[in-house]
Amino acid sequence: MILVTGATGLVGRPLIERLVEAGAKVRAVTRDPSAADLPAGVEVVPGDPRQPESIALDGVTSVLLNPRAVGTAAPELLRRAREHGARRVVAMAALNVDFPLERQPSRLRGDFNKEVEQAAVESGLEWVSLRSGCYAFNTLGSWGAQIRAGDVVRGAYPEARWAPLHELDLAAVAAQALLTDALLSRKPVLTGPEALTAPQMVAHIAEATGRPLRYEQVTHDEAVDHLESAGIPRPAAAGFLALEADSYGQRDLVTAEVEGALGRPALPFSHWAALHAPAFTSQP
Ligand SMILES: NC(=O)c1ccc[n+]([C@@H]2O[C@H](COP(=O)([O-])OP(=O)(O)OC[C@H]3O[C@@H](n4cnc5c(N)ncnc54)[C@H](OP(=O)(O)O)[C@@H]3O)[C@@H](O)[C@H]2O)c1
Repeated sequence: MILVTGATGLVGRPLIERLVEAGAKVRAVTRDPSAADLPAGVEVVPGDPRQPESIALDGVTSVLLNPRAVGTAAPELLRRAREHGARRVVAMAALNVDFPLERQPSRLRGDFNKEVEQAAVESGLEWVSLRSGCYAFNTLGSWGAQIRAGDVVRGAYPEARWAPLHELDLAAVAAQALLTDALLSRKPVLTGPEALTAPQMVAHIAEATGRPLRYEQVTHDEAVDHLESAGIPRPAAAGFLALEADSYGQRDLVTAEVEGALGRPALPFSHWAALHAPAFTSQP
């Protein structure tokens, strides 16, 4: 039985679909089972991963740890899981967990990716830590409101590049890590297949939506304002922009880990943009 935390989220849903297709038994943890809407056959249990005592662990052999769901409770959840006979943990971590703390802005939103990776490594269980680069989905969070309101996307760093990771690829690699031994004791850095600038990503979204979108450069502070009005707390927004600025001139933004794990190239941003085009044109 695979226990999935973060089951109803961006990565949890496609991961669970993969696991069910592979015939695995899945227990999905959610704070609200009535809203979970997960595939038939999945055992949906109420619980908050931040309160490990609230989670049914009988029969659990493997655990998928989503830092956003688990908060600071990863060591305790894994201790309990091990007591119940679990053998493996797969942590969703991030590419920047070895960066200085001020370059880990998602910590300001309660994602303790570094500590969750560490808890997995120190758990005494077989472990894998998936160090993801930026999700392609971030473009929806950062730019969705601007694109729904007009044809201009404003940002401060038009030449910054990153290699957006498709959530379907991350889910597929997580399934591999849970179901096979191929990634054991590794911390693969997962990225998309191509390093793109923001204007290039906007062009892909324009093509997918059929809209005449364009990128406009604004100051750092104005870009922070836009991210804040998209719901990203100001300190975190400033941190994300600092990471963008850091990417100037970097050459090694793309890894081959997704292809290595899945035996096919990572999905391009154009695929992601086509999949999510409706969300850029109508209210989510
Ligand atoms: N965005 C990126 O570029 C990036 C890159 C690398 C790593 N990451 C990391 O990936 C993780 C996020 O993964 P994701 O996008 O799949 O997560 P997500 O969709 O935002 O959330 C997953 C689930 O966690 C539960 N959850 C959310 N907030 C919670 C809280 N305060 N307390 C308890 N449960 C909570 C919710 O489930 P229920 O409501 O059903 O309980 C939610 O559906 C974060 O740790 C992030 O730092 C992100």
